[in-house]
Amino acid sequence: MIRDVSLEPIERASQDELRALQLHRLQWSVRHAYENVPHYRRMFAERGVHPDELRTLDDLAKFPFTTKADLRANYPFGMFAVPRERISRIHASSGTTGQPTVVGYTANDLDTWANLVARSIRAAGGRPGDIVHVAYGYGLFTGGLGAHYGAERLGCTVIPMSGGQTQKQVQLIRDFRPDIIMVTPSYMLAIADEFTRQGLDPRESSLSLGIFGAEPWTEAMRAEIETTMDIDAVDIYGLSEVMGPGVANECIETKDGPVIWEDHFYPEIIDPETGAVLPDGELGELVFTSLSKEALPIIRYRTRDITRLLPPTARSMRRMAKIIGRSDDMMIVRGVNVFPTQIEELILRLPELTPHYLLELTREGRLDNLTIHVEAETCPTATAAANTLGEAVKAHIGISADVRIAPRGSIERSVGKAQRIRDNRQRG
Ligand code: DLL
Repeated sequence: MIRDVSLEPIERASQDELRALQLHRLQWSVRHAYENVPHYRRMFAERGVHPDELRTLDDLAKFPFTTKADLRANYPFGMFAVPRERISRIHASSGTTGQPTVVGYTANDLDTWANLVARSIRAAGGRPGDIVHVAYGYGLFTGGLGAHYGAERLGCTVIPMSGGQTQKQVQLIRDFRPDIIMVTPSYMLAIADEFTRQGLDPRESSLSLGIFGAEPWTEAMRAEIETTMDIDAVDIYGLSEVMGPGVANECIETKDGPVIWEDHFYPEIIDPETGAVLPDGELGELVFTSLSKEALPIIRYRTRDITRLLPPTARSMRRMAKIIGRSDDMMIVRGVNVFPTQIEELILRLPELTPHYLLELTREGRLDNLTIHVEAETCPTATAAANTLGEAVKAHIGISADVRIAPRGSIERSVGKAQRIRDNRQRG
């Protein structure tokens, strides 16, 4: 039973109320997509389904998936369901290959987004009047502006710092004394390092809360950041195709995985091979359908993020387990599937090693090799730690990896999303 009366009613609603709202909104959303986006009309026809057939939430499984490739094929504005004049803002993913994926928002969509990020920051422990330092990148990336308008909506004082200029990040944190920082977990570590480099103790900063997301990070990384910074570290999840940050957010009182704001996004977990819907609790690919978006209704979007759905705890809505990784980032090393987060967990168990690491893949003949580059706190104990890490990787993941200790500061720091994998197999 959720007693916090300051929550929005839907955050405390019964399962029946929530499911009824979802069905109602889902029917609207699927019809809106069908009637206004030629791509959806075509895809539904190919599948032989019609919005009229959506009578229960389970009927959603009859509808086709949407992928990043669909957004690319309809570049730039082909997936929009409203006339261009009604689009208030555009965002786009950087897109490492080919075209970026473009997303759009009506004024109502921006309003919903700000509300959901405000709800997220509140769940994380933020309150009106708090000072929020936003170090997610501003611009086409949804992180900066998404966090910004949500923090303003909650009634916070926002410092729109954006990513980069690490020395200045530290200076502004010292001078403006923010309570909350919103940043990628990997860039938080770079900022913490900069405190130390300047002879300052990051634990002494004014910050008491960090809202971290935009990349996978582990429970071990949470512990590392909480200790290094002396703050609470809470997980925020989102993706531009579905909205941006604030699709799901962890509650500070439980820290048990982001709560999916299910009144606006309907989650499913599927088997990535067969596309079959899996029961809650099972590991698979997260799929989202938007329930209220006007500009870019998104039906069964395959996120490529691997996680599981968990029952409600601090809110009426389901949670997702921390993302294990993106299917794109899954390495297959000598037949074994490995995600960077699995290695991260093992690195952080060893106090001699730092959380700065890079995974390098090379090919020798027909065999893949994994080299773990990781920085050590001090060199003398590092060789033993490297051996221990190699043994732990063998024991827990089942692969042999070459561990190389890198000098402090030699592994490139991210100012946004960390790149954990360097794949040299094509060239090798
Ligand atoms: O990263 C939106 C965002 C900004 C979320 C700031 C949170 C904070 P994209 O650039 O479209 O949008 O990338 C989305 O990033 O599919 C996940 O793979 C990953 N991701 C985002 N949040 C988390 C998280 C933003 N909390 C992609 N944990 C997603 C793990 C995350 N991965």
